[in-house]
Amino acid sequence: MNIVLFGPPGAGKGTQAKELSQKYEIPHISTGDILRANVREGTELGLKAKEYMDKGELVPDQVLIGLIKDRLEKPDCVKGYILDGYPRTIPQADALDDILREISKPLDAVINIEVSDDEVVRRISGRRTCSCGESYHQMFNPPVQEGVCDACSEQLYQREDDREDVVKQRLAVYNEKTKPLINYYEKRDLLVNIDGNGTVNEVFGAVSRVMDRYK
Ligand code: AP5
Ligand code: ZN
Repeated sequence: MNIVLFGPPGAGKGTQAKELSQKYEIPHISTGDILRANVREGTELGLKAKEYMDKGELVPDQVLIGLIKDRLEKPDCVKGYILDGYPRTIPQADALDDILREISKPLDAVINIEVSDDEVVRRISGRRTCSCGESYHQMFNPPVQEGVCDACSEQLYQREDDREDVVKQRLAVYNEKTKPLINYYEKRDLLVNIDGNGTVNEVFGAVSRVMDRYK
């Protein structure tokens, strides 16, 4: 099953993809998580990416294309994959096409999680993140112990790019550079829209019903 989870910043892509990855036993590939891990480890890629991420800008296409190619060629993608946060531009989508043709793993669907702007702001402003990759929401999805990760007991933090001014910029970049992909995938009959405004469980049910078609 080869899926792209698509949607604006804070739509709930990461939250859903983690659960879906367990349910369908295919890897969750989040370019945001991979970049943040590189920033934490202080790699050359991380240092370069941080400049863009902190401002709410996209990291250059060539960097992302190389990164996603390496990841999709790993053996754990043989059964399929869930892409989260990639592609984000038309050149990234074109490159993905080429990569997937090479490895004979074409997309089954692009699942677009539709969420209103107000809800996006509510979700991002309450998000608390853990360095292990888990993320929580202060109200909607709180950890058992306030400020502490359920999975690894580390202290939670607010992402640098979850500050209000940076969120505005991320939304503007989404509207300008990423939203055109909706039309791109619609034309290829790959787009499936899902109402993302419900609870985590409701959205999970809706996405699972789509994914079950490709089992
Ligand atoms: P990335 O990490 O991909 O950020 P994003 O797309 O902005 O997505 P988010 O992680 O903010 O949100 P999400 O949809 O995963 O929501 P979540 O599940 O956490 O990218 C960060 C940066 O990296 C980019 O700005 C860019 O610089 C760079 N980058 C990454 N990929 C790139 C690429 N391909 N090209 C170039 N640059 C790239 O949920 C949000 C909150 O809501 C959480 O608190 C959660 O608990 C809560 N929540 C989730 N679902 C629900 C629900 N149904 N009801 C209530 N609350 C909910
Ligand atoms: Zn953790």
